[in-house]
Amino acid sequence: MNKKVFEKINLGGIEVNNRFIRSATVVQKATIDGYVTEDLLDMYRELSEGQVGLIITGTMGIIEGADNSKLLRIHDDSYLEGLKKLVDVAHKNHSKIIPQLGHGGTLQMTKAEIQSFVEQFGEAALRSKKAGFDGVQVHAAHGFLFSKFLSPYHNRRTDEYGGSLENRTRIMLEVLDSIKTKCGTDFPVFIKINSSDFFENGNGFTFEECKEAAKIFADAGFDAIEISGGAAGGEYGPARSKIHLKEQEAYHKDYAAEIAQEVSIPVILVGGIRSIEVAEDILEETNIEAISLSRPLIREPKLIKRWVEGNTEKAKCISCNRCFNPEGASCIFNK
Ligand SMILES: Cc1cc2nc3c(=O)[nH]c(=O)nc-3n(C[C@H](O)[C@H](O)[C@H](O)COP(=O)(O)O)c2cc1C
Repeated sequence: MNKKVFEKINLGGIEVNNRFIRSATVVQKATIDGYVTEDLLDMYRELSEGQVGLIITGTMGIIEGADNSKLLRIHDDSYLEGLKKLVDVAHKNHSKIIPQLGHGGTLQMTKAEIQSFVEQFGEAALRSKKAGFDGVQVHAAHGFLFSKFLSPYHNRRTDEYGGSLENRTRIMLEVLDSIKTKCGTDFPVFIKINSSDFFENGNGFTFEECKEAAKIFADAGFDAIEISGGAAGGEYGPARSKIHLKEQEAYHKDYAAEIAQEVSIPVILVGGIRSIEVAEDILEETNIEAISLSRPLIREPKLIKRWVEGNTEKAKCISCNRCFNPEGASCIFNK
C-alpha cells in the first residue's frame, strides 16, 4: 500500500509529521482540581521532543466534579490558561495534540441530562479549540460512558438511546453535531471505540456491531476512528500483558484492518504494538493509516525519535502493566 511510518500525512484533517500517535493515557499528574502542572508540561514536552506525530492526552473531565483523581479537566474557562501551555509545548516541538474528552458515569440519565451533557461536551470541545488543540477525540471505548451506551449488555434503555444500534450510537452522533456546530465543520473530531467488549459469554458490543457502528460514525462525519477493545482489567482488556513475540503484538489488528476496508475515514490501530517492523507491515498490508502507542511511550517517551534516528530495536516496554498507578502512571524501570 506504499505507506511509510515516517512520512507527513493528513490524518483526518490534522497534518502530522509521521504515522505514530501517543494514544490517550491518563497519568494523574494534574492538580486535585484538574489543572495543568509543571509535571504534566514536562511529560508532554518530552513526548513531543520524542517526535511522536500526534499526542492524544489522557481523558479530560468535561463536567464539573465527576472525580478528583488528578485527571485534567476542561469544564470551564479557568482551565484554558494551563491547557494553552500544554498545547504550546507540543507545538513547539512540531507534534500535534488533541485532548481525549470523555466521561466515566452511568447510563441512568434523563433525556434532559443527556441534552445538557451533549451541550457541555460541545462546550468542552470549543474550549479545546480556544486552547489551540488541533481537534478532539471522543472516548467511546473501554467500558466508559459511551462504550456502555454502545453495549447491549449495559444499555437497557427503552427510549431512543437504547435498543437498536442506531439508537445506541445516537448520543455520540449528537455529541459530534454539538462539537461541529460550536467549533465548525473543519474542526477534526476523532472517536475511539472497542472492536468488541470481549465478554466471555458473547454478550456486549461485538465485532459485527462494531463494523456497523464504525460505518455509522464515518457517515455521520467523525474524522478518524481508533480501534481498541475490552474494558479495564481482564485478559482481553485494552492494555494486555505478556506481549513477548511479534505474533502477540497488535492484538486488534485484524479488526481494525477489516474496518479500514469498509470506511473511508482514517483508521488508527492501538494495542500492543512494540516493533517498528510490525508497524511497517501493518501499514504495508492493510488500509490502517496510523499506529497508536501508550505503554511503550511511558517507558521510553523518546521511542519514536530513537526509531527515526536508526536504532530500530523494539520498544523496551514489557507490558507488565505496573505503569497503572493511582499515584500517577510511570514505568517502574525508570525509577
Ligand atoms: C496508564 C494508562 C492510562 C490509560 N489511560 C487511557 C485513557 O485515558 N483513555 C483511553 O482511551 N485509553 C487509556 N489507556 C489505554 C491506552 O490508550 C491503550 O489503548 C492501551 O494501553 C493499549 O496500547 P499499548 O499496548 O500501546 O499500551 C491507558 C493506558 C495506560 C497504560
